[in-house]
Amino acid sequence: MNRLAGVARLMIVSDLDHTMVDHHDLDNLALLRFNALWESNYRNNSLLVFSTGRSPTLYKELRKEKPLLVPDITIMSVGTEITYGNSMIPDDGWIEILNQKWNRNVVSEETKKISELTLQSETEQRPHKVSFYIQKDKAEDIMKVLSTRLEERGLDVKIIYSGGMDLDILPQGAGKGQALAYLLKKFKAEGNLPHSTLVCGDSGNDAELFSIPDVHGVMVSNAQEELLQWHVANAKDNPKIIHATERCAAGIIQAIGYFNLGPSKSPRDVTDLSDSKMEKFDPAYEVVKFYLFYERWRRAEVENSELYFANLKAVCCPSGILVHPSGIEQSLHDCINSLRQCYGDKQGKQFWVWVDQVLFSQLGSDSWLVNFKKWEQSGEERKGCLTTAVLSSKDVTVAKGLTWLHVHQTWLNEAGSSNGISWLF
Ligand code: GLC
Ligand code: MG
Repeated sequence: MNRLAGVARLMIVSDLDHTMVDHHDLDNLALLRFNALWESNYRNNSLLVFSTGRSPTLYKELRKEKPLLVPDITIMSVGTEITYGNSMIPDDGWIEILNQKWNRNVVSEETKKISELTLQSETEQRPHKVSFYIQKDKAEDIMKVLSTRLEERGLDVKIIYSGGMDLDILPQGAGKGQALAYLLKKFKAEGNLPHSTLVCGDSGNDAELFSIPDVHGVMVSNAQEELLQWHVANAKDNPKIIHATERCAAGIIQAIGYFNLGPSKSPRDVTDLSDSKMEKFDPAYEVVKFYLFYERWRRAEVENSELYFANLKAVCCPSGILVHPSGIEQSLHDCINSLRQCYGDKQGKQFWVWVDQVLFSQLGSDSWLVNFKKWEQSGEERKGCLTTAVLSSKDVTVAKGLTWLHVHQTWLNEAGSSNGISWLF
């Protein structure tokens, strides 16, 4: 919760399916590009908010399928559930607001009478959300009938149509937009209003996000018809909203650049990492860069050259130690040597490395303590480690980057037993 105490430079509020996550991109290229950009440039001073239609159950499923970062705030079930931090602590104040003029039994009774509505799975029925499927051509008429009937029964509801198939019934005060308005109001009251906010979406349930005053918005290139139509009818003259030419997470990166919200070049778009100079010592950038090099090395996407190897050794202190997640101590230089043998062992294979929640604090005038989660996925198998590293700027120039003094890792899942991934560091 501490992370919410400062003023965020940027708050990104993004939908997941077909916005942050491209289900057609089996290599997750755009998502991984976004991840690297966020962790290297924003994580330490900005806020990441995921706002999804999914219930907590399906949200967790998606996390297993895709290399998603951990957001600071998670808004699920179409803005009806707000939770904070890694342990997903629910916002009880929000629940109280949603209870007004809401009775899900009445919603169930009335919707049972409409044969065109097919109930979604049990997991997607939530305390403040009742969800169905409905054919595109019938949606408009049924929504009208429903809203009249529920009003007659004394309810004040919101009916949302998304993705050309999903129909959600929520309390009037719920929805992705209202949830964001609630958060912004809370930030404002605490004097922590983010410097800028960027909302990102692709479908009907995201429309509300774009009507919140003062926010920038990006409809990704692959946005659904229903959102584009809403935009033409309601927000076409708002210069703060764009329809990206890039799909999903690539569209989000595009919008960061278009609106000048901060750096928009992902380290993944830098071909020669040894050439990318920092302007100041930046531990987060160092960590992202290091693991990106590691991924490229194993995929043989960088040259197998002595120069690269020497550079890698140069950033590790000769007396530096790595405490491997298995508990074994190794010298950092030995680790780098064993990396030499792994050149290209993942060439042409599905193999991704990403870091999450890269947070750092300065220990002294020339040293930093960095905490992050390092993930490695090989085919279907994923392993993760909580990592603590000490980086130093002693006796080096900004151009050379920081030196790794000490690394300590602990398994994040029961990964120790798996055999597809041999963990180097
Ligand atoms: C997600 C939810 C579903 C909802 C849809 C649109 O797919 O799982 O219940 O209807 O989003 O909001
Ligand atoms: Mg979506």
